[in-house]
Amino acid sequence: MTDPIPSRESRILPDAATLNRAAADEFIRCAREAIAARGRFAVALSGGSTPKAVYGLLAADQADSTRRLPLENIHFFFGDERAVPPSDPESNYRMAGESLLSNIPVPPENVHRVKAELDAKTAAGLYQEELRRFFHPGPGEWPRFDLIMLGMGPDGHTASLFPDSLALSERSLLVMANWVEKLKASRITFTLPVLNAARCVAFLVSGADKAAVLHEVLEGDGPAEKYPSKLVRPSEGKLIWFVDRAAASELSAAA
Ligand code: 6PG
Repeated sequence: MTDPIPSRESRILPDAATLNRAAADEFIRCAREAIAARGRFAVALSGGSTPKAVYGLLAADQADSTRRLPLENIHFFFGDERAVPPSDPESNYRMAGESLLSNIPVPPENVHRVKAELDAKTAAGLYQEELRRFFHPGPGEWPRFDLIMLGMGPDGHTASLFPDSLALSERSLLVMANWVEKLKASRITFTLPVLNAARCVAFLVSGADKAAVLHEVLEGDGPAEKYPSKLVRPSEGKLIWFVDRAAASELSAAA
């Protein structure tokens, strides 16, 4: 049994709509706190389908004076990317662009895209350099994002850290090209040390199809390598699980 994560918090919301609003509100809270404390907010967006509605809310929130954020102080990164061009329907950049980034006046230089049209290893190396240029981590230090948004697949993967994949054991690189056998494709992904250096990690998990794996990740004794989301344990940061009731249906009350 993995030892309890002191900073882990599970917020179980009635449905996807209330989950999306809660996640968007946490994004806004994190952003305001970071900008007040350090003058900027560095956030890594998740791919997949779950966060799309949250991004849509954040775009709409910019028209609401009580929720609007100073976009010039916000830098958007991507926790992982598919090895496809930005115009590809599979691209996380394209999804975030359509739901959020193309609909708000964020300075183009504040959107840090993975150059996934290149071969995955080159793209990963270039993105790693971009993180180094932005965060200037010292020797033995890791880039410290203010917020990293993550989803979780039905197999327990997160970002593009898939069960039994090479990137799971990487402890030196910041960003890695990761071959995913079951997809027969490469992905570009943050490594676990970057995820676990974040001030806040927010998982968004919605739907009954995630219930079994969520129980395993939050309450099970299975090997963490089989359920990579278990390995996300920020050493000096918050870990918040935004979960709707359908996804939480196999959790014990205590979770
Ligand atoms: C990706 C994501 C991936 C995603 C999960 C959940 O590039 O697909 O980074 O980790 O978050 O697969 O995806 P859904 O939100 O579509 O269920």
